[in-house]
Amino acid sequence: MIRIAIIIGSTRPGRKAEAVARWVYDIAAKRSDASFEVVDIADFDLPLLDEPMSPVMGQYTHQHTKTWSAKIASFDAYVFVTPEYNHATSGALKNAIDFLYSEWVNKAAGFVGYGGAGGARAVEQLRLVMAEVQIATVRNQVLLSMFTDFENFSVFKPAPQQEKSVNAMLDQVIAWGSALKTLREKQK
Ligand SMILES: Cc1cc2nc3c(=O)[nH]c(=O)nc-3n(C[C@H](O)[C@H](O)[C@H](O)COP(=O)(O)O)c2cc1C
Repeated sequence: MIRIAIIIGSTRPGRKAEAVARWVYDIAAKRSDASFEVVDIADFDLPLLDEPMSPVMGQYTHQHTKTWSAKIASFDAYVFVTPEYNHATSGALKNAIDFLYSEWVNKAAGFVGYGGAGGARAVEQLRLVMAEVQIATVRNQVLLSMFTDFENFSVFKPAPQQEKSVNAMLDQVIAWGSALKTLREKQK
């Protein structure tokens, strides 16, 4: 069974990301074809990237990088829960991705975005970043609208059909994550 991290992509005080990630986890936890864990970037106290060497070298000097590396390396796939900031993902999530390299390679990912346009532009931008760290991204994604999935644009109240879209995205993440796990094992 593969291990999937549900990554909280905002560190902002008052963030909506945490409620969204916990909702994704509650849906995912009903499944028996993978195991899931919520990973909160805020718990890792990552500064703006402060490693002297490129992460491709894997020569980490700081304890915060080593702790983040060990956590991310322990998963086979990821679900990125991303806000949309200025038509992109958050700086905090991009920075956390930039810290590492080999930990991401040949893994799979799906996205849960939220915003005025369902976070679609943030997710599209994140897909380009994923390509460079060799994460395979699945087509199905969850688009949560500030207009229909958040009461008064603030309290998270997802429309009932969104649970179906979470499971459709997870179906693909689990299939691709399992296939890529086999590939990584063959490459050892
Ligand atoms: C700096 C900033 C830029 C934003 N830009 C966008 C945007 O381009 N598109 C959008 O739909 N919402 C935008 N928003 C609204 C956010 O999607 C909304 O505040 C959301 O709750 C942010 O996620 P978080 O609460 O988990 O941090 C922006 C919010 C901030 C703080």
